Amino acid sequence: LSKIEIKLADIPEGRSMTFKWRGKPLFLRHRTDEEIETERSVDLSTLRDPETDEDRASNPKFLVLVGVCTHLGCVPIADAGDFGGYYCPCHGSHYDGSGRIRKGPAPLNLEVPPYEYLDESTLVVG
Ligand code: FES
Repeated sequence: LSKIEIKLADIPEGRSMTFKWRGKPLFLRHRTDEEIETERSVDLSTLRDPETDEDRASNPKFLVLVGVCTHLGCVPIADAGDFGGYYCPCHGSHYDGSGRIRKGPAPLNLEVPPYEYLDESTLVVG
């Protein structure tokens, strides 16, 4: 399927879920206010691939990512690593709660796929 529809009510606050999209894992994270605040306060000059959290999540409550490490393509683990986000066990890349690379060999942030909100409770990816 080139597009998938996700019911946001299925994802409790503070939880991450994995879906499948175009043969790849798709991570969706329902962030808490605290997580959003943490990501929004990151100093961009400390980032390898500087992107604001606002640019990565149009609705800050929901972070949508392609679950493929930008180093050599392993699938990172959600809710793991040193920066409250994702950890890739293959060679030790740490991504933050905005999916931005913070430590380890990966060169780029986790990709944000194209998506849109159909309504307040439904997201379409693709
Ligand atoms: Fe993820 Fe190498 S593939 S760190």
